[in-house]
Amino acid sequence: MWTKACIFDLDGVIVDTARYHYLAWKRLTDDLGIIFTPEENERLKGVSRMASLEIILELGGKIHSVSEKKEMAALKNKWYLEYISTMTPKDILPGTLELVNELKFNKIKIALGSASRNTPLLLERLEIADMFDAVADGNSVNKTKPDPEVFLKAAGMLGVEKARCAVFEDASAGVEAALKAGMICIGIGDRSVLKDAHMVIAGLYEMDLNKLVVLEKSLGYEKLV
Ligand code: G6P
Ligand code: MG
Repeated sequence: MWTKACIFDLDGVIVDTARYHYLAWKRLTDDLGIIFTPEENERLKGVSRMASLEIILELGGKIHSVSEKKEMAALKNKWYLEYISTMTPKDILPGTLELVNELKFNKIKIALGSASRNTPLLLERLEIADMFDAVADGNSVNKTKPDPEVFLKAAGMLGVEKARCAVFEDASAGVEAALKAGMICIGIGDRSVLKDAHMVIAGLYEMDLNKLVVLEKSLGYEKLV
């Protein structure tokens, strides 16, 4: 088959931490008197901590110093860490392990591509650090999604040609990043939000190897193999 590697986003794909990011930002915006809705939160998905803060502060329309911003980001992260502190392997989203096992059985490499600097902590809590052949995260890249850096870095670490990677993403910025990297992109969530993805599913439990092969064919990749 065409695909040689699958790259998974973490928050909102493997684990439902997207809601904890939202709750932690909401706490900060409530404190600052900024109106922050779930719709606006969509813009923060897949976006790094500091870039997310900039988007939020823009909503408030006030200027803040660098040290104030650092303090706000640290506070948000403190709350976020409190929310995720009780997470265990039971919090791995349905279908994740089954899909990864099927892909591995078929010699497809597995990587993580996340903007989160809390990636190592979460992988440890979920006990899946060993599951990945490569991990590219917010600690190893400079540019945030929609820049393709994190996915290109993962492909490079795996030694797989970028066009032969398929990405699983729940964020519109992540879908954009995957497409910019020239990769196949499977959106997780709402078709209206992830409209540019090659295919959209509700969760990894809806995916299997056969569906990936069908998708490759529909995109015309089979002719290239
Ligand atoms: C993920 C989430 C974003 C989050 C980013 C940075 O991409 O989707 O909402 O802002 O990671 O996370 P961090 O854990 O480093 O604050
Ligand atoms: Mg995500």
